[in-house]
Amino acid sequence: MNNLEKVTKKIENKQEVSQNEIDEIISAYCNNEISDEEILPFIKAIYYFGIDDKELYYLTNAMEHSGEILDLKELGQIVDKHSTGGVSDTTTIVIAPVCACLGTKMLKLSGKALGFTGGTADKLECFAGYRTECSSLNEAIELVKKNGACMLTTSKNIAIADKKIYALRDRTGLVDNIPLIASSIMSKKLAGGADIIVVDVKYGNGAFMPTKKDAKMLGKKMTAIGKNAGRKMKMVYTPSNQPLGYNIGPKLEAMEAIEILNGKKDKSILYKSCVNLSAICVSLDKNISYSKAKKMVKKVIKDGTALQKLKVMVKDQGGSLELFDQTYTEPTLVVNSPKNGKLKKYNTKEIGHITAALNKSGIEYGVVTFAKIGDKLTTSSPLFHIYAKDKNEAEITSQKLLECVEIK
Ligand code: URA
Ligand code: CA
Repeated sequence: MNNLEKVTKKIENKQEVSQNEIDEIISAYCNNEISDEEILPFIKAIYYFGIDDKELYYLTNAMEHSGEILDLKELGQIVDKHSTGGVSDTTTIVIAPVCACLGTKMLKLSGKALGFTGGTADKLECFAGYRTECSSLNEAIELVKKNGACMLTTSKNIAIADKKIYALRDRTGLVDNIPLIASSIMSKKLAGGADIIVVDVKYGNGAFMPTKKDAKMLGKKMTAIGKNAGRKMKMVYTPSNQPLGYNIGPKLEAMEAIEILNGKKDKSILYKSCVNLSAICVSLDKNISYSKAKKMVKKVIKDGTALQKLKVMVKDQGGSLELFDQTYTEPTLVVNSPKNGKLKKYNTKEIGHITAALNKSGIEYGVVTFAKIGDKLTTSSPLFHIYAKDKNEAEITSQKLLECVEIK
């Protein structure tokens, strides 16, 4: 029996495995000495039999070290805020400049869209010309020194093992597994070099985790991994049974982030979520109370400092500032509530998929929603504004969206 088969058997029999044994497998897999087919039983063993917290840390550590690791020591303390994915979650574009204004430093590495959720990197590209990749780590470090924060896309060299394992899990139906998700997310976070890691774990019909109980289990696993790696960890649990903001689609979401920083939507759930997460980041970074941090956060939004900061960050990465003055164009189709009643339910994940399909034609397309769960609607209340490449696509989208709402 080779090492791979031996370790797989050990996991199935709940016997202890060592860091060395796991390192050997991950490094052989990344060097293509082990094929997808050969490693699959090992991944399946974790999926079906689980591994303990120490072994999960070994796995994550091996994945972290399979690629580039950012050394951010010269920046001092760095904070990272990660969301486990949601529909209309544009918090990063708000939180990074808010924290930067208050001296809480961030070097954000964000992903491209994954399935039903948008990716921050796609939204950043809506500032025409924005370079989501720096020429070197040094350039990114200089930007954080100058502005306090910098938003980039995840380099393809970060946690290479995760890219391979995630693709394999995706092809073989092994994505929905708490230890595998925890190691996937944390391998990238650890490689990203932050000292304090805040994770917004979403749960509900718009999230990977269906229930709060699952979200808490995932949070516990991620916390254990981070602490083993010597990082300060904080989990936040946010319900996701409806789009977080109102806008869905890269450009519309970038516009909504600007509206939040303009203070125009300070009653919205998205605004509250941005304030909460920013306050947590600032309070942990500065060792001050949450309520004090929250006041500071609200102030830099209200007085326009954070909006100004975002402009500077966008400009320094080559992005156009045009979006900051842009107003909404005429939607391709306006969809009103089909009946009188209360909005009971959104099929959030499906709404994410439907919008992602629109975005295949361009980042400017998407959906603006108008109602939140509990809102009273009449047949003259707008439900959706659809932005699509033509009327026909908008009509088809409208039918699909109406199947995703329950009004009673
Ligand atoms: N996000 C990740 O980065 N990895 C997973 O496995 C699931 C969600
Ligand atoms: Ca490390």
